[in-house]
Amino acid sequence: MCGIVGYVGDRNAYEILIKGLHRLEYRGYDSAGVAIVSPSGRINVYKSRGKVSNLEHYCKDKDTAGSTGIAHTRWATHGEPSDRNAHPHYSEDEEIALVHNGTIENYKVLKDALIQNGCKFQSETDTEVLVQLIEYIRTNNDCSLVEAVKEALRQVVGAYAIAVIEKGHPDTIIAARKSSPLVIGIGEGEMFLASDATPIVEYTKDVVYVKDNEIAIVSKNEPLKLVNLNNEETSIDVKTLEFSISQLEKGGYPHFMLKEIFEQPTTLRDCIRGRVVEGGKNIIVSGVLDSKDKFLNAKRIIIVACGTSWHASLIGKYLIQDMCRIPVEVEYASEFRYSNPVLDERDVVIAVSQSGETADTLAAIQMAREAGAYVYGISNVVGSSIPRNTDSGTYIHVGPEIGVASTKAFTGQVMVLTLLAMAIADLRGTMSKEELDKIGAEIIRIPDYVKQTLELNEQIERLSLIFTYAHNFLYLGRGYSYPVALEGALKLKEISYIHAEGYPAAEMKHGPIALIDAEMPTVIIAPNDHLYEKIVNNVQQVKARHGSVIAIVTEGDKEIKNIADYVIEVPDVPECLTPIITSVPLQLLSYYIAINKGKNVDMPRNLAKSVTVE
Ligand code: AGP
Ligand code: GLU
Repeated sequence: MCGIVGYVGDRNAYEILIKGLHRLEYRGYDSAGVAIVSPSGRINVYKSRGKVSNLEHYCKDKDTAGSTGIAHTRWATHGEPSDRNAHPHYSEDEEIALVHNGTIENYKVLKDALIQNGCKFQSETDTEVLVQLIEYIRTNNDCSLVEAVKEALRQVVGAYAIAVIEKGHPDTIIAARKSSPLVIGIGEGEMFLASDATPIVEYTKDVVYVKDNEIAIVSKNEPLKLVNLNNEETSIDVKTLEFSISQLEKGGYPHFMLKEIFEQPTTLRDCIRGRVVEGGKNIIVSGVLDSKDKFLNAKRIIIVACGTSWHASLIGKYLIQDMCRIPVEVEYASEFRYSNPVLDERDVVIAVSQSGETADTLAAIQMAREAGAYVYGISNVVGSSIPRNTDSGTYIHVGPEIGVASTKAFTGQVMVLTLLAMAIADLRGTMSKEELDKIGAEIIRIPDYVKQTLELNEQIERLSLIFTYAHNFLYLGRGYSYPVALEGALKLKEISYIHAEGYPAAEMKHGPIALIDAEMPTVIIAPNDHLYEKIVNNVQQVKARHGSVIAIVTEGDKEIKNIADYVIEVPDVPECLTPIITSVPLQLLSYYIAINKGKNVDMPRNLAKSVTVE
């Protein structure tokens, strides 16, 4: 959600800022704005509710000259989405302007104190309190902007990534972060900053990930400087970005989501590269061997995640319990962190997060570490906050996922969890080499199986036309297919806005079966696994109540083919690998139904790609 962009150099800042905001649109937002230090000496702030294109239209006849500026896409937390509440926010004297991602929890106390000291506010946001506080400190202590920012942040309780510009110092941006992400790009005589690397990568691949409680002094003529709130300089750790600008483009697809669905053969190949070697006879997952005592002696494993990552985690539960014989609990991070969990040093906690920035997941692992548990992270974004706050972990390496609805990251997470379970099973000797080798050999073929499954695209596109105007869907599955049912339902509801529920198929008779009628399509994930005969019964139960059934079956299926209304046949793979295959048709079905309904599949309403606030 929301985003920050900043530029200081010799180029026209406005062009770079607007382009950067477009690159961040996928994160979800409700308004946008820019602030530029004009050659005339003043700071010009332009902002508007709605899309970045609205802002561009508004700026058409405005003075946007200047080579230092900051910009923002807002996801409102305090104060409704409006022109007035959009960022950037001026200080009252318009000497400085600020943009902010996050929340200032104690803004009310600070605002009341500032009002008592004569400050007047233009907006209802918590952010404006911060810029007014900075300016109040700066003018009343006659100190530098960076000193004022430091003192203000000492008084702030909450999460922030901020960028501040000052009329009197047009070549410098002051930035800072705590819990909300911030990346600095180091160019030749120019500097960039943003909430993630996507607005930066086309200009430079040299980046620095700002750490919590660090303040950055970003100047075009001086080297980057990082200090903490105690004014101690901190080390500059320059990383090189691994992805290219082309990965941020749609590559001829109409939407990022469709591109990322079709990228999965490639991304799964990238995901297993270096991890499945010697023809599948050797599985190497970073962070397992160098902490093997933790996995060997774990009395249980707790997996914390949100949304789609929680569904991948639930598949992880089935995998690890099946293969490693370790009890696994899968927790919504938001519930886990407030449930007063019983944790100790014998626990292993796994955090699963595509963005590596989800606030609830980050908070959950910080709790786990404080309790002495060993925390292992599985993320996609290199250098993001979660991997930097775990004892060890690994990346899924599927490249930037731009579509808000997670697809390639989901299958990448499931693949890594599969490999992790196999590596631990090998360590603990709970599976024979023959069993592991057989699965390893099949994993190598998974990218081709997914490619084969994607050939169902046209069939699924046609099928979607039949169900586009349904108002409710049920998704059913058993065993490994139950989390796939949950994920299929989430995919549909988050991009088409159709209500959809995922359920364990056997639960039907305990209530949901009352919902079944001709108006309620039921998607049943029914691969040829050890529960097949049971799921056949479920298909019959739905049909007996005049429900229409879309069945995802293993190719060559004969039984369900004669009962279900619509059948999608996918390649035959070992049971533990079925989720990666059976989830692909559900991604396509959701995509086409949403497109048929004219929805914005890459940026669904109310959603954000990375939920960095509670
Ligand atoms: C899934 O399509 C959504 N984008 C959402 O549920 C997402 O999975 C969730 O917010 C968790 O995000 P994370 O994986 O970046 O932590
Ligand atoms: N809390 C701030 C506001 O509501 C910033 C929200 C965001 O992160 O975009 O304006």
